[in-house]
Amino acid sequence: MQKSNNTVIVTGGAGYIGSHVVLKLCETGYKTVIVDNFYNSSPSVVGKLEMLTSGNIVVAEMDIRDVTGLAALFTKTQPSAVIHCAGLKAVSQSVDHPMLYYEQNIGGTINLLNQMDSVGCQKLIFSSSATVYGEGSIPPFREDAKTLPSNPYGRTKLFIEEIIRDWSATEEGKSAAMLRYFNPIGADESGLIGENPKGIPNNLMPLILNVALGQCDDLAVFGDDYDTPDGTGIRDYIHVDDLARGHVSALEFTSSSTGAEVFNLGTGTGVSVLELIAVFERVTGQSVAHRITQRRPGDVAVSLADTARANEILGWKSRLNLDRMCADSWRFRSYNHSGSER
Ligand code: NAD
Ligand code: UFG
Repeated sequence: MQKSNNTVIVTGGAGYIGSHVVLKLCETGYKTVIVDNFYNSSPSVVGKLEMLTSGNIVVAEMDIRDVTGLAALFTKTQPSAVIHCAGLKAVSQSVDHPMLYYEQNIGGTINLLNQMDSVGCQKLIFSSSATVYGEGSIPPFREDAKTLPSNPYGRTKLFIEEIIRDWSATEEGKSAAMLRYFNPIGADESGLIGENPKGIPNNLMPLILNVALGQCDDLAVFGDDYDTPDGTGIRDYIHVDDLARGHVSALEFTSSSTGAEVFNLGTGTGVSVLELIAVFERVTGQSVAHRITQRRPGDVAVSLADTARANEILGWKSRLNLDRMCADSWRFRSYNHSGSER
């Protein structure tokens, strides 16, 4: 069922998280328009989304910094809301090329907000990150914990949150939900869409998958001397389907709220690197060779969400467990293992 006059623009909608958000929006009855320049995704994702939704997915191949292009698209589309997932996200690349990150992530967001204003679009959901929390914060992190990101990528997220706060205060009726994602893994149950990063991945699950598929010899476990039960880093892994559902809850929240609000999206459960490997091996039957190496600079021992705010205000809670996250990640990558079928 399609909701009337309910078009949502999803920037980065061909990417890992954005594609799952588009799917969830379509299932809920929203009409979606993807804006993506395919910097880190492939147009083939669109066909897969069409198969999954049996519908037309409208796509604009466009950079979010394109002022003229975005103005024309907003005028034509007249969206009721924007879900803003587009952006660069590689921490080490951001350290080497900070200006690129400020230009793309912050510059792109400013253009987007201006275009929203030009057509009176007042509702925004933004992909923020748990990386905004400061090293000194005590897990589980509440949304009011100290923010002190340790790299340019994280700073773009924090600066954008501030820009959105200022934007939302300029007009009655403007509303934004800024979602601080913890560690999304998993894939849609169909195995058609999922995470298949271009180039060499940096994150744990894509690397586990590479080892399981024999695409690299073993996994380097970055340190076993953290102050955690088994000494390896603890993270809050969340199924991307739950994360996507959180966007729909946030969208519904913004329809009747004003101002800018921040929400953690995680499960509130911590899982160590060795635990994730063990669960993955049990669920998939694949072995993941690994060896302990030095800590990775900038890593924290524990990153964990306090999810009370999202539970209470958005009425959202994660549902899918770690077994499902591993099974779905594996299904997707074993169907798309060459890396070319993106
Ligand atoms: P992704 O790279 O898979 O998706 C981002 C999409 O945005 C890609 O399709 C890319 O082509 C597109 N894009 C990038 N720059 C663009 C530009 N200038 N104009 C138009 N399109 C552009 O990443 P993802 O994992 O889906 O992440 C989505 C968002 O969530 C990002 O903003 C990221 O910073 C944030 N986030 C991700 C994670 C994670 O672990 N995946 C965690 C926290 C926050
Ligand atoms: N890890 C390894 N070996 C690897 C890769 C990772 O042991 O080869 C460990 C890390 O040390 C950490 C855990 O696995 O303990 C998770 O690491 P990821 O790189 O998958 O995730 P991070 O929590 O370090 O960071 C990710 C994104 C950030 C984002 C953050 C919170 O990379 O951009 O989640 O959402 F901000």
